[in-house]
Amino acid sequence: MAVVEVSPIKAVNTPLTSKAEPCVVIILGASGDLTRRKLIPALFDLNTIGALPEEFQLLGVGQEEVTDVEFRALVREGTASSRDVNEFQEDGWNGFAPRLMYMQGNLMESATYVKIAKRLEDMSRAGASANRLFYFSTPPSLAPSIIKGMNEAALAKEEKGWTRIIVEKPFGHDLASAQDLNTQIAQAFNEHQVYRIDHYLGKETVRNILVFRFGNSLFEPVWNRNYIDYVEITAVETLGIGSRAGYYEEAGALRDMMANHLLQLLTLTAMEPPVAFDADSVREEKVQILRSIRPMKPEEVAKRVVRGQYGTGRIEGTEVPAYRNENGVANDSITETYVAVEFLIENWRWAGVPFYVRTGKRLAEPLTEIAIHLKRTPQALFARYDRDQRIEPNVIVLRIQPSEGITVSFDAKLPGTEMDTGTVEMNFCYQTAFGMTGPAAYETLLLDAMQGDATLFKRRDEVEAEWRLIMPIKEAWGKEPAPDFPNYAAGSNGPVAADELLARNGHKWRFINSNTSRCGE
Ligand code: BG6
Repeated sequence: MAVVEVSPIKAVNTPLTSKAEPCVVIILGASGDLTRRKLIPALFDLNTIGALPEEFQLLGVGQEEVTDVEFRALVREGTASSRDVNEFQEDGWNGFAPRLMYMQGNLMESATYVKIAKRLEDMSRAGASANRLFYFSTPPSLAPSIIKGMNEAALAKEEKGWTRIIVEKPFGHDLASAQDLNTQIAQAFNEHQVYRIDHYLGKETVRNILVFRFGNSLFEPVWNRNYIDYVEITAVETLGIGSRAGYYEEAGALRDMMANHLLQLLTLTAMEPPVAFDADSVREEKVQILRSIRPMKPEEVAKRVVRGQYGTGRIEGTEVPAYRNENGVANDSITETYVAVEFLIENWRWAGVPFYVRTGKRLAEPLTEIAIHLKRTPQALFARYDRDQRIEPNVIVLRIQPSEGITVSFDAKLPGTEMDTGTVEMNFCYQTAFGMTGPAAYETLLLDAMQGDATLFKRRDEVEAEWRLIMPIKEAWGKEPAPDFPNYAAGSNGPVAADELLARNGHKWRFINSNTSRCGE
């Protein structure tokens, strides 16, 4: 297929970065992987681009008994290994590290929060900001102790400065536990203090969905049931479950990815234009979409949901074990590592347009994309000239990762004396067009939280609306006979049943191939 590259019309200057408000970030669960791999690297990068104010300080609280100096060495290693060796700027790190402090504490014990409060008071007397951002980088089971401890130690209050909390996913493990967690949070905090994070919302290309849709008059007029045949949303990985068997056995693909990241991609693709780009307006429209999807009845689940689990296979040429043979996984586990769902949005814009959403581990390629399949033209005007007797419908693909960008395919006349046609593709690549791909998701989201902007965080009712869609699927599975797993080979395109899900409507998944339209690689 012929590919046309798309470049910016005007020269693009490095975008301006606004600064975070002065604050102390307190990471609860600072000995964990997330702190080392994502949070500290993101804060370090924010510091490098000048987005952190002079007053910024960080206090890590974790199980391990380490000193400030040892903590800095640990997170330095995580930060350095999160990028190419040459990209790690030692000078920058030396300027950043002294602002990182550590405190040992058991987050289950109330006494820890009294100690944190005392430490923050001491820091404040020494000139630290009274604004505090607490990051719950902990398993959900710890949240009740944290909320109680913070409340009792008066850490939830906003007296001399603001207090905000960021709550990591998973937000509960079902609707009841999510509601329970929301209620506990509401007893200690006001909603404006609460930032429920979903790191997909911080991805540059995910945020671009809104710009693409609402910043261009070319696409929005066709963004509805009159022109769109179906929508495909894919987020698949080649990775297995690594060392997370304990968590994953309980979660499965439905809870791990579908209940949050995938539903978020769906809401941004399907939502109505918000009245303004602010937290209330955007989140209101997202909730409306989730509410427009009718939760499935048990008999619909069998028809509109496909689950799968990987068997042995090859990933990038290397033999990998079946899910049931992974460390820590039961050898008769029925946890799904793949799920595909056909969602129907029952509103004026989308009635009759299926949204097929799939996610899975150990698939052929790592790929996250949203494909909008437009309808065929009403008349096959060129059919008799076209050797294939058909013109392909237009497809708009929003590539979230890798090769971040957008492609629009359309038909063109092939050069020559005959009226033959062929499909061509316009390809916009972030990297090629702008020479950069943008900040990491956690960078964007941490900066937003430090600036008090909750647009890219989930509202209380949004999280509950997500669970309302997921629960009927989980419950129906609980009543079905145990599935015949494994039902797809590692390194494949997923279970055959997922293809049948679309085939009965005359639709087809795109082939899982991240090489398609790669950005000049
Ligand atoms: C996490 C899931 O939320 O997202 C993981 O728990 C998954 O299982 C990860 O691998 C995918 O995120 P990303 O940013 O790599 O697409």
